[in-house]
Amino acid sequence: MSGMKHRAFPEGFLWGASTAAHQVEGNNTNQWSEWEKANAKYLAANAYSRLMIDAKKYLGWDVDWEAVKSRAERPENYISGDAADHYRRYKDDFMILKQLNLNAFRFSIEWSRIEPEEGKWDEDEIEHYRRYLHELKQQGIEPIVTLWHWTVPVWFAERGGFERQENVRYFERFITKIADELGDDFSYVTLLNEPNVYVYASYLIGQWPPEKRSALMAIKVYHNLQIAHKRGYAMLKQRHPAMKIGIAFALGDMQPAQPRNMLSRLVATVAAYMQNWWYLNRISKELDFIGVNYYMTTYFTWRGVMQYSQAPKSDAGWHMEPKDLERVLLATWKRYRKPIIITENGLADGGDVHRQWWLEQTIEAMQAALAKGVDLRGYLHWSLLDNFEWSFGWWPKFGLVAVDRKTMKRVVRPSAKWFADFIKQTAAKSTNTNGTELRAPAPKQQQLSRRHGK
Ligand code: BGC
Repeated sequence: MSGMKHRAFPEGFLWGASTAAHQVEGNNTNQWSEWEKANAKYLAANAYSRLMIDAKKYLGWDVDWEAVKSRAERPENYISGDAADHYRRYKDDFMILKQLNLNAFRFSIEWSRIEPEEGKWDEDEIEHYRRYLHELKQQGIEPIVTLWHWTVPVWFAERGGFERQENVRYFERFITKIADELGDDFSYVTLLNEPNVYVYASYLIGQWPPEKRSALMAIKVYHNLQIAHKRGYAMLKQRHPAMKIGIAFALGDMQPAQPRNMLSRLVATVAAYMQNWWYLNRISKELDFIGVNYYMTTYFTWRGVMQYSQAPKSDAGWHMEPKDLERVLLATWKRYRKPIIITENGLADGGDVHRQWWLEQTIEAMQAALAKGVDLRGYLHWSLLDNFEWSFGWWPKFGLVAVDRKTMKRVVRPSAKWFADFIKQTAAKSTNTNGTELRAPAPKQQQLSRRHGK
């Protein structure tokens, strides 16, 4: 163990990991799997320009090309295929959750499995998720259910997906079906995952399906995803009043590159408003908690140019500043005064060189936020397993648990063992909150010793 002190977290704190159906289940047929098949060769052939030029320009990624090129240049890298075979191995994976002392698990229900053709429900698939939820319950693990993590049935995409407001009714019908069939088996929902990232990548920079580049369309889809959330919230509340319904939203830490320059500060404020607050402001009444997905900090010059710090980089070329989570938690709390769950947080680190440090820094950030009165209820690491990283494919490794894709063997990474020990010693007081009320934790004066500098 490191020199961290074992301070208590609030009672009932959720310690868990997150996944998404398309990234781990295997053999999904949806708009994304079709896109992969059509584009794998192109993505492989253009890996250099996509990663070293586009990703740098649009996302601030600064990838070590030499380290990834052999994988990034292979078409197979871009096919999700049998993924991590989680669809069949979920029981084993839940055993791993137990082994890691985790008491919560976030996953998504794949719409294209439940309704592969318009209006036709696949009862076997509903049954699959019923068994899945029961298994979690049996293991004493709190399910946190995402109803849309970017993938949709092919027929829905063909009708224009969320580009058309009238299509929201299809999504509503799907989640109503889930609420009726399975709603008694879970109490936490992150209705939508990161509509902001989806709209940016699919409609502004046009790198994800359906690869459109239109500000007008982006605004339209963003608006329709607001409607989807609001209607979904109302429907779920009506059927399951006790359900805790939130969102998993990508909240970046936007900072001025020149803190003394007023314009630089203004640009950072506007950027934070655009990425973080614009959407949340509009659905804030329809949120029982806010799910924070935090990965990185972005700096803005007075000219509006994105910059990154000198902080060490993960395999994905993201500068790692895990401590900045505290600022994001404070800003979110200050704005909305709603309970917060960190629904995603993690890094691509195949060699497991930085993950323990990342976790330590993150725990310190959470302690600091709690001490300042933030009503933080849980932490879900991204991800449980190495998984399919969307248009970048398989090379980034985000798992607490490594997956050998030939044998599908799972190997718990050393950082995950450290995390499991930490939870046991520090947070063993956390209990399964299933059925209990969301209650404000008593803020404590807590400090953890700093093990590493930034
Ligand atoms: C997404 C995940 C993704 C992770 C790491 C988040 O934006 O919700 O699906 O794998 O970031 O890139």
